[in-house]
Parts: sequence; C-alpha cells; structure tokens
Amino acid sequence: MRTIAIANQKGGCGKTTVSINLAACLAREGRRTLLVDMDPQGHCALGLAVPEDQIELSIAEVLRSASLNGQAAPAERVDLVRSIWQITANFDLTPATTSLAAFEMEFGGRPDAEDFLAEVLSSVNDKYDFALIDCPPHIGLLTLNALAAASEVIIPVDTGYFSLQGLAKQIETVEAVRSRREQALEVRVLANLYDVRTKLGREILNELKRKFGSLMCSTFINFNTKLREGASFGQPITEYDPGSMGFRDFVRLARELIAAGGPDMIPTALLRQANSLADRADKLLATTRPLFGKNGVVRNDQPSTPEQIQQKIERIYGAQLTNEGVLFVAQAPGAQAVHLAGDFNNWSADATPMVSEKRDATFQALLPLAPGRYRYRYVVDGQWLNDPHNSYVEANPFGELNSVVEVS
Ligand SMILES: Nc1ncnc2c1ncn2[C@@H]1O[C@H](COP(=O)(O)OP(=O)(O)OP(=O)(O)O)[C@@H](O)[C@H]1O
Ligand SMILES: [Mg+2]
Repeated sequence: MRTIAIANQKGGCGKTTVSINLAACLAREGRRTLLVDMDPQGHCALGLAVPEDQIELSIAEVLRSASLNGQAAPAERVDLVRSIWQITANFDLTPATTSLAAFEMEFGGRPDAEDFLAEVLSSVNDKYDFALIDCPPHIGLLTLNALAAASEVIIPVDTGYFSLQGLAKQIETVEAVRSRREQALEVRVLANLYDVRTKLGREILNELKRKFGSLMCSTFINFNTKLREGASFGQPITEYDPGSMGFRDFVRLARELIAAGGPDMIPTALLRQANSLADRADKLLATTRPLFGKNGVVRNDQPSTPEQIQQKIERIYGAQLTNEGVLFVAQAPGAQAVHLAGDFNNWSADATPMVSEKRDATFQALLPLAPGRYRYRYVVDGQWLNDPHNSYVEANPFGELNSVVEVS
C-alpha cells in the first residue's frame, strides 16, 4: 500500500478536492483506494454525500482506540474497518467529524502521539493499493500523524492566489519531519486551480517549475467549475462529469502516480527509462557516424577515436530529425541532471530526462514526435534554458526564448 498525505497549511488550495478526485480516479484505474479524512471539518464526507449525522465511528474513534495500545476490551476496540464507508467500487472512505478537533488537546503531551495513524493504517496494508490522507490546513498533531504514516506527500498549490512563502514553509515542515524520522518521504508539488488564460497563473506555474523543478507533478489541475459543482452534489468528478476537464486532469494525475510506482521505485523506473533511451540514442548515433578513411572512403569497420566521436557529436548538438524521432543533444558541462521540457510533455521539468551515457557534458533524449511544431527548453539542474545550438526560437510570455523544432 502506498500512503500519500495531501497536505498544505494554506487553506482552500484544494487538498480535499485533490484527495476526493484523485482517490476516485485511482479506484477507476482499478486500484483499491482508501481515503482517510484527518480534518475535523469533515469535508470528505460532505463532498462524497456521506451524511454526518449517520457517522457513528470516525477516524477520531479509531485513533483514540489506537492510543490505548491494545489495552481496550475487544468489544470496545475500534478497528479501522469499522469506520469505513464504501463510496464506489475500489473506493472507501474513513470520514472525520468535529470530534477530531479535540485530538490535539487530548494527546498533545504524549511522545508517541504522532504515530497513531501509522499504526492504524498498518492494519490494512494488504487490503489497499493506495491510502490517501486529507490533512487540515495547519501543521499540528493531525498533519504530523499523516506525514508520519505517509511515504509520499502531495502539496497542492493554488496558482490563482498563491504565496510562494507559504509553500516554502510547508516544504520546510515536510523536510523537518523527514529528517527527524529518517523515513523516506517523497514530496510532490501539484499546481491546482490553474487558469491558463491569466498571466498570473502562467507566471506562477513557470515560477513553480523554476523553483521546484523535479518536485513538480507533470500534471497540473486546471480551474474547472465542475469540480466545485461535483463536491456540492456530493459526487467525485468520475461520477459527476466524466466529460469534464477536471476529470481528464485527475485521470492524468492518477496515471502519473501509478506510473511513478512509489518512492522506492521512482529511481529504478527513471533509471530504466534513461537506460533504454541511452541505448536507443547510442544506436542512432552509431548509424549517423560516418567514418571517413584517408581517401574519403566510408569505413564502418574501424572504431572512431574519442576526438572523432566528439567531432561528430558536436555536429549534432541541437534538435535533429531522425527516422526514429527527434534527437535532442545538449551540452551541459558539470550538470547533475538535464531534462527536456516542452509542448510534448506539458512543460514538465522532470518527465523527460536527458541521458549522459558517458557521464560527460553531453546529454541526449530521443522523442518519437508526431508531425507538428514543438516548442521546448532544457532544464539544467533546475534552470530553464533555450537550446543555444538551435537558432529557431520564439519569445514566450515570460520574456524568454523557447526553442522550436518542426517535425514534418
Ligand atoms: N481545480 C479546481 N477548480 C475549481 N474549483 C476548485 C478546484 N480546486 C478546488 N476548488 C474549489 O476551491 C475550494 C477550496 O477547495 P478545497 O476545499 O479542496 O481546499 P482545501 O485545501 O481542502 O481547503 P481547507 O484548507 O479548508 O481544507 C472549494 O470550493 C473547491 O470546490
Ligand atoms: Mg479540505
């Protein structure tokens, strides 16, 4: 089970919207998903039409029971399963009610008070593929419980009325929890309420990518009134309007998370992707490497010298059309990581790693792109740059240059 906390101390940035709709979409992708509401406001129940007056056992009772360390009589024990409401196939909810508000006061002094939720969730480890935890809009014992239980955290960020300061603070808190507990906690920042039509929205998204680079989810969630309407009708977007942009965004997010494969698997998956890319690029380079003998005769049988290879590679810096796709070759001396971002990957700063197979200054990526016109930039250790080897550029709305490649 992958446990993902949805946290940000800033109110109204979309924690509950993300929790509900991501859970619904993970379930729709066939993943057994449990949503746990850790916010005494109880908005998950509200947004999923679970009537508050019929909730007999909520997460508060489950946590209280866990605090007794198994010393309660069996009949009085409140196991997590007793609190669960089935929402749709594969999608269960453990709701919260206002009774959770007393939790911080009640257990604030106990040294193990941050660990109750982790213990509770360990009892359903085999029953679910994902547990999502909706957090309240402040960093207290409830959020700390969620972070302690989680192996991943998604920080939704409002790109409409947003303060970078608040986000930096949230990430600091996550960092503090991470270093104190010595546990793996994969952090992802998710742009929400994105309105492509506003200059502010675009600028903030760009700023986020610049600042948080590989921490950003490739997917961002557009502002979509259907998401708000769905919540007011007590339905996730999968039920309220599967034709909406909100639905499309959340399906994309669910698939991105599934593909990422959990904290331990992310580096392996990336590595595999990078290696296969390197293999393909290497083959391609080999075929585009004409070796000329003394008399100008092509001789493919002799290995080229490192200098010769360097010469050939220099000739192909930039973006080249090949039979297998567009080969992007960048020169980035001393860089740790280079990524390719552009129209083709939603301007993601981390979806398309460029590979330095010889661990030198040359990074490459091969993309099979359909005919069309694509704008792109390189992200070199988090810094966005246009391709200096491609003179075909256009200005972007941020006063910088995008490189352009046309595939015919
Ligand atoms: N992408 C979106 N498009 C349109 N409306 C949205 C979107 N995301 C969130 N909203 C709306 O914004 C409001 C706040 O969202 P939500 O309740 O999910 O935030 P929250 O972070 O959980 O708030 P709190 O901090 O109070 O728990 C809600 O009315 C919700 O419907
Ligand atoms: Mg909320």
